[in-house]
Amino acid sequence: MLNLQKLHFGGDYNPEQWPKKVWAEDIRLMQKAGVNLVSLGIFSWANIERSEGVYDFSWLDEIIDMLHKGGISIDMATATASAPAWLTQKYPEVLPKNFDGVTLVHGGRQAYCAASEVYRTKAAALVEKIAERYAKHPAVVMWHVNNEYGCHAPYCYCDNSRKAFQNWLRKRYASIEELNSSWGTDFWSQRYYSFDEIPVPSRTPDGTHPNPGQQIDFKRFSSDVTLELYKMERDIIKRYDSKNPVTTNFMSMKFTYAMDYFEWAKEVDFVSTDHYLAQHDPYNYIDLAQQADLTRGFAKGKQWLLMEHSSSAVNWQPRNYAKTPGQEKRNAMSFVARGSQGAMYFQWRQSQAGSERFHSALVPHAGEDTRVYREVSELGALLKQHPEISEYPTDRAQIAMVYDYEQFWALMQANMPTQDLSYPETVAKWYRALWELGLRVDFVHPDATAAELADYKLVLMPMVHMLSDKQETEFTKYAQSGGNLVVGYFSNISDRTLRVKLGGYGGNLVKEVIGVYVEEFYPLRPEQTLKLSNGYEITLWSELSRLNGAEMVASFQGSDVDGSVAIAKRNLGTSTAWYQGTELTLDSQKKFFSSIASDLGIKAEGGVDTEVVHRGPYRFEINHGKNSVAVSKN
Ligand code: GAL
Repeated sequence: MLNLQKLHFGGDYNPEQWPKKVWAEDIRLMQKAGVNLVSLGIFSWANIERSEGVYDFSWLDEIIDMLHKGGISIDMATATASAPAWLTQKYPEVLPKNFDGVTLVHGGRQAYCAASEVYRTKAAALVEKIAERYAKHPAVVMWHVNNEYGCHAPYCYCDNSRKAFQNWLRKRYASIEELNSSWGTDFWSQRYYSFDEIPVPSRTPDGTHPNPGQQIDFKRFSSDVTLELYKMERDIIKRYDSKNPVTTNFMSMKFTYAMDYFEWAKEVDFVSTDHYLAQHDPYNYIDLAQQADLTRGFAKGKQWLLMEHSSSAVNWQPRNYAKTPGQEKRNAMSFVARGSQGAMYFQWRQSQAGSERFHSALVPHAGEDTRVYREVSELGALLKQHPEISEYPTDRAQIAMVYDYEQFWALMQANMPTQDLSYPETVAKWYRALWELGLRVDFVHPDATAAELADYKLVLMPMVHMLSDKQETEFTKYAQSGGNLVVGYFSNISDRTLRVKLGGYGGNLVKEVIGVYVEEFYPLRPEQTLKLSNGYEITLWSELSRLNGAEMVASFQGSDVDGSVAIAKRNLGTSTAWYQGTELTLDSQKKFFSSIASDLGIKAEGGVDTEVVHRGPYRFEINHGKNSVAVSKN
């Protein structure tokens, strides 16, 4: 388990990029800044295994001892994140192939196919050596497997991947017939007579796309085959160290979708994640809060660790704006408020060379006498003052929002009613509306049972496109036994294989439980906005529908579907269920949620510029506005 006695502060440490004389200076500056943990060796494979089977641990031994003497703990990496040149030179089949069949070459990072047996064997050998050597070292307090799995080449379309995909399908489907019917392969003559015939869903003739079921299964497979790699490394470490926790850093970012972190979270000893701000976005602290809350969702409410974020600018956005004075402290404390056991960074010392030389660090190019180093040192001191915060998880919210990577995968496919649909944007808009109202949210996966949801006053389902029968039953049970529910448009359209549920869109949940009969989609034109009968403003989406037991809250007007249901509700006895059959603008979404929250008596705190979060006895109040605000007394 994660240490619950202290808050961690530090970051990725890459001493191999520096001459040894800098190392002693590093330790001094780490101590001065209050650093108590570094992630070591993440990209060190080429420096540890200099040629096949020839290992050099001397430099690592030396720096590990220096850190230990300096009182700095180590999050020991397995160094498998980027294979050395000798490896891909000798075994080119390790290199991944992209969607167009192009082989991705060595020279960037993460150039490996997750299904490659050679990569797996070579990585296993390296992990074995590292675990054996450092498992008992007193400075090592946790294990950092690989790095941001799936960041650069999450989907590989090579022959190895194809075989692995076929084997994965063999396990998922009882027979080829079951696969054919799930994917609907009688369409366009796609029927398969054996699993060996199934291709990876790469480039198809222009204007066509691979079968939707095949596409989503390939995404599931890609997350699973990569997770197998993680488990392989983890299990090796566990043979040498049964005490210290093992994790791998996820990427909790708005547009990151390749790995299903709800599944991955089941395999780590604690959840750790990375988050980088879109610094050009003036409301990026809301995205930060959302991603932190989502990460707490992976962790099922428990504490987690922010493994990487940046002290100031990154170097991979079109324009890399520096953080403003004080901003980083607010960012870090917002993560801590939302359950992180501290604040870790990429990286300790800003690189002098290589692709990331213009990415900020704790020690900038300009050195110790800098705004960044001073500010992070202040933060280090602050975190040190309050180790007891770490004992408490963030308080549970009264509202839960459903989030699911598989919805992302389903909704990003082509051939939808409109290309303007965006799962991450809709979820972010719902979240922002709540944030600005001072309403806190927990994220849950659609596999949550009615019993698990029962403590939430309100469950929100933005664009939950696919629901299995079991999932639909659990949400129905939740709503019919006292839970309040909001179902967004284009939800429950398909089962988990992307076969449409017939007899009225939204399935039983929308048609019978809430009572709205949806016949046809009427997407709006780009930039088109309309006013509903109650004055709310909408964009993107309308639909032809009628009441089927629900009560009208607002209907469409001035559109092709005048009088159809835009928002409806159904009194279920002790609870209410709403259907939102459109995309509201932010202001209207706020009005809608605010009226629901006041109906249900859900308490708001903060909002507009101020963020208020409770973690046990601690109350975090963070002002993101331009004007100063007095801390509230309660
Ligand atoms: C992360 C990665 C780090 C570093 C950082 C820069 O994706 O794990 O190694 O590249 O981004 O923002």
